[in-house]
Amino acid sequence: MPTDGSQASPTAKRLVVLVSGSGSNLQALMDACADPAYGAEVVAGGAARAGPNGAARAAEARRPPVVHRVKDYPDRDAWDQALTEDVASYEPDIVVSAGFLKLCGPRFLAAFPGRYINTHNSLLPAFPGMNGPGEALAAGVKLAGATLFICDAGVDTGPIIAQCAVPVEDDDTVDTLTERIKEAERAQLVASVGRMVQGGWKVEGNRVRLG
Ligand code: GRF
Repeated sequence: MPTDGSQASPTAKRLVVLVSGSGSNLQALMDACADPAYGAEVVAGGAARAGPNGAARAAEARRPPVVHRVKDYPDRDAWDQALTEDVASYEPDIVVSAGFLKLCGPRFLAAFPGRYINTHNSLLPAFPGMNGPGEALAAGVKLAGATLFICDAGVDTGPIIAQCAVPVEDDDTVDTLTERIKEAERAQLVASVGRMVQGGWKVEGNRVRLG
């Protein structure tokens, strides 16, 4: 029996999910993992701040929280080292950044090559950064959406695993558009991680092939 509160079979792929927001993407993954056929288990949930966020959601689900605040370390490199070691201790097959909103350093990227993935709320390469939906509205685009990609050292760059589009409505605010994107984003994350754990994936240059 795993010591982390999970009930998954020993063949289930191990996910560590890092969040900073409400953790609805983390929750969607935990819900999907409740079905053994999904083939994965969230073994830990992490955050870069304490408080009532996704890490708390993980803790409630008896997943150990991996919380490292940048400000608790002398510098960014020390934070990166602590986060890397802690996440690595859970031996994840995939590390998911689901609104983690922190750029991990070279040590972290090297520890999880090709298997540290991030979901972002825009159709990359348009609107990287913290305000994807707001920038999409300001630009007047008619389609917005979400992108799941493999992290590299850039800001919202890296090989794209999946994208989904949602319409921008005439009366949208940043909040309504953000929520519409998040709904599609959660479904995409669950479906894509499912395909990755069940069939594997290959990265060829900038292109990702699932299954
Ligand atoms: C997601 O839309 C993600 O793309 C963005 O933050 C949101 C996280 O939402 N960076 P939640 O915390 O999973 O609810």
